[in-house]
Amino acid sequence: TAVDEYSFGHLHSKSQTSPSNDALAYALTNSEKQGLPDIAVSPSQGKFLKLQARLVGAQNVLEVGTLGGYSTIWLATSSPTVKVTSVEVDAHNAEVARSNIANAGLMDRTEILLGPGLEVLPKLAEEVKAGKRGKFQLVFIDADKENNWNYVDLALGMTEKGGCIIVDNVVRQGQLAQDAGGDTRIEGARRVVENIGKDERLDGVVLQTVGEKNYDGFLIAVVK
Ligand code: DHB
Ligand code: MG
Repeated sequence: TAVDEYSFGHLHSKSQTSPSNDALAYALTNSEKQGLPDIAVSPSQGKFLKLQARLVGAQNVLEVGTLGGYSTIWLATSSPTVKVTSVEVDAHNAEVARSNIANAGLMDRTEILLGPGLEVLPKLAEEVKAGKRGKFQLVFIDADKENNWNYVDLALGMTEKGGCIIVDNVVRQGQLAQDAGGDTRIEGARRVVENIGKDERLDGVVLQTVGEKNYDGFLIAVVK
């Protein structure tokens, strides 16, 4: 945690950095005040997502699991012209996210779609297929862990070649490498790792992380 604070403090301290530290702090305190759980990505993880979006030159970003919009705010600052589409199942979370994103001045780059990912993503895929919506270059999956693979599978049809799919929380304090013992979230993490490994359309890696959000990790996969 001290390393996170040291490095983030130096690498995201200038007045011109975006999102502003005020906007980030508001999103976290407002989310807590509104009763949302403290499970957003850390500041450094949020910045990592922003930089990944920059690396792939993302113009369209898909997020599954908005919560209070903390990672959404990060992704929406990856480019002045980026459009972030974020899917949230809980109406209260979506409302809090909208107020946090509005406070950050990023409403024009963001849309929050309310509904279960398993219902909203097929509709998005239809819109992409019909040419009503552009393909995504970056997808961030951070929702119910049981459906990790289903979200990757649905996202694949609407992600450009060379695009990137990132899944949060797959390491789970090392439980990824142990028997799931009936924990459906671990089963969801193992399934997405194993299925991506078998899928000819994707090339993936698990990157373990430690810090403010304890010991966890991202699965990062590039669409071939
Ligand atoms: C949980 C979910 C998350 O997406 C996360 O980053 C941390 C924890 C959870 O459901 O406990
Ligand atoms: Mg998460």
